[in-house]
Amino acid sequence: MPAQVINGKEIVSAYRTEIKQEVERLTQQGVQPGLAVILVGEDPASQVYVRNKARACEEAGIYSEVHRLAAATSEAEVLDLIGQLNDNARIHGILVQSPLPAHISEEQVVEAIAVEKDVDCFHPVNVGNLMIGKDGPAPCTPAGVIEILKKVGVEIAGKHAVVIGRSNIVGKPMSILLLRENATVTVCHSKTANMAEFTRQADILVAAVGKPKMIKREHVKPGAVVVDVGINRLDTGKLAGDVDFDDVLDVASYITPVPGCVGPMTITILLRNTLEAAKRAAQ
Ligand code: GUN
Repeated sequence: MPAQVINGKEIVSAYRTEIKQEVERLTQQGVQPGLAVILVGEDPASQVYVRNKARACEEAGIYSEVHRLAAATSEAEVLDLIGQLNDNARIHGILVQSPLPAHISEEQVVEAIAVEKDVDCFHPVNVGNLMIGKDGPAPCTPAGVIEILKKVGVEIAGKHAVVIGRSNIVGKPMSILLLRENATVTVCHSKTANMAEFTRQADILVAAVGKPKMIKREHVKPGAVVVDVGINRLDTGKLAGDVDFDDVLDVASYITPVPGCVGPMTITILLRNTLEAAKRAAQ
């Protein structure tokens, strides 16, 4: 029997409706959640992501402002803008879109964002809090994956989850969040020998590699839940995930489509993190 393709649109739409209602309630109490996005340079993919984030804010009733800066903007100017946004009471979340031009240090930029406004959960203090299980934001993509699994009704506790990828944005925090949900977690990466031996043991397989269609049916245990975080642009212009969807479809029990599931859920968690930051500021 082919896998059930997870209906990202339906899950995301229902979740955004819940968020919008909470935003409305908070706004009526005098605090409209606000997000500032900083985009430096003209990276075409980043421009699309930033546009989508701003549109999602608008639809949810969240105030948003996008600061589009020229690629030649100095690091000092970016840090100065972040300082102003840190002091701006209208803004509860600040997101600096990656990648930044080479002359700007991602580390300096991330550390300049006020911890309580770091809706990406990239600041070392928030990463540390995530690690020890303290309250606070969780990074948008991995938190979105957990939310998808929960909304579909996938049991995580006691399951073997295998994460492919160890980036700071996805793979590492993904493994921590799965651990927090009481999964047994294995992390595979580019230096893992005999990767299929590990991935074939996965009840839940999360692919976050950035290589189109790398995960084939031989990597997947029959009945596994397969979550595809990859968004890769093919030479044909089409988007493909890290998972070879057609090859894996009749092996998995559930599979996420690309595009249309993890991507929109990532933005939804950004809305949630902004809402939560505004709630904490209102307390
Ligand atoms: N670039 C790609 N993904 C992300 C993300 O989640 N946050 C930011 N700030 N930049 C990104």
